[in-house]
Amino acid sequence: EKGGYEHFMLKEIYEQPSAIEDTYRGRMLVNEGIIKMSGIDDHLNRFLNANRIIIVACGTSWHAGLVAEYIFEDLARIPVEVEYASEFRYRNPVIGKGDVLIAISQSGETADTMAAIKLAKENGAFVFGVCNVVGSSISRVTDAGAYTHAGPEIGVASTKAFTTQITILTLIALKLGKEKGSINNSDFHMYLREMDLIPSKIEKALQSNEHILEVANHYKNSRNCLYLGRGYNFPVALEGALKLKEISYIHAEGYPAAEMKHGPIALIDEEMPVVVIATKKGHYEKVVSNVQEIKSRKGKIIAIVTEGDEQVSQIADHTITIPDTFEALTPLLTTIPLQLLSYHIAVMLGKNVDQPRNLAKSVTVE
Ligand code: F6R
Repeated sequence: EKGGYEHFMLKEIYEQPSAIEDTYRGRMLVNEGIIKMSGIDDHLNRFLNANRIIIVACGTSWHAGLVAEYIFEDLARIPVEVEYASEFRYRNPVIGKGDVLIAISQSGETADTMAAIKLAKENGAFVFGVCNVVGSSISRVTDAGAYTHAGPEIGVASTKAFTTQITILTLIALKLGKEKGSINNSDFHMYLREMDLIPSKIEKALQSNEHILEVANHYKNSRNCLYLGRGYNFPVALEGALKLKEISYIHAEGYPAAEMKHGPIALIDEEMPVVVIATKKGHYEKVVSNVQEIKSRKGKIIAIVTEGDEQVSQIADHTITIPDTFEALTPLLTTIPLQLLSYHIAVMLGKNVDQPRNLAKSVTVE
């Protein structure tokens, strides 16, 4: 059942190339230059006329929502707010008929997300679901939706659900951007072609597994770990930190790299590993200076860089490379080494990777 892998989590990490293909198969027609999604096509005007999109979710799905905020605003020029479902539902939010709410949930059973949907519907918003489990409660109460088609995710720590959620949300943003004219035809085609290369680029990223295992060995006894990223990769930093804390029980925090100097930099010393996402796109020069600041305070740097990188690689203690891609698609690649790093650290510490203590796969209580 684990297909030869030691844990479901590892199997699911390795399934990401095929899971993402399953997500876009039949929806993204590269040669025709079309994105077909009935849940969007049937309600196109609701989306095109939306005052804003509110995304609600919990945990890893909330991180996918944060990535989507960057993508929607960048490609489709629609204002987006991303909310923890648990906060949204209890804070008397302002919701109107012109709002579109997107609920993201792997299980489709999360109680807080369900309650947020109910509240939005009562206030006249149009509710769209992004779920993995077919026929789940959330997929049944939403007005429309799109399944991620990632296949069953058994490991409690979410992996392929996250990257397939980002894939679906990227397709939606591209489709709306094209309809609105905020993305031109030639860029739209380039995005489709690049998205089609993502599965093979993830395969390539997975080839760093042995190297990541060695890196994990250096840091398995750390008490804390910081994760930094900017722009599209800020939510990836949050997700990397969540993966580490939930399966290895090492305290980890994700931060936007530029926020370092507003507090967290005080934590840096030789005992503090800092995972920095420093891809060539997206404020690279700024991240280089963040890396220098950490180094001068003796922090240990594990950098996720683009193939061919020189600047950050010279300073970092360890570098893990990913293939180059468009900035908006980098989260689909930068996530991979962070998943593997957490996995190996947890295995080395003898933790129950697939069923971490105190956690459940589907959180049906508030
Ligand atoms: C983290 C994790 C949780 C879930 C969260 C939402 O690895 O699995 O943080 O992401 O409980 O669950 P869903 O997506 O099923 O609503």
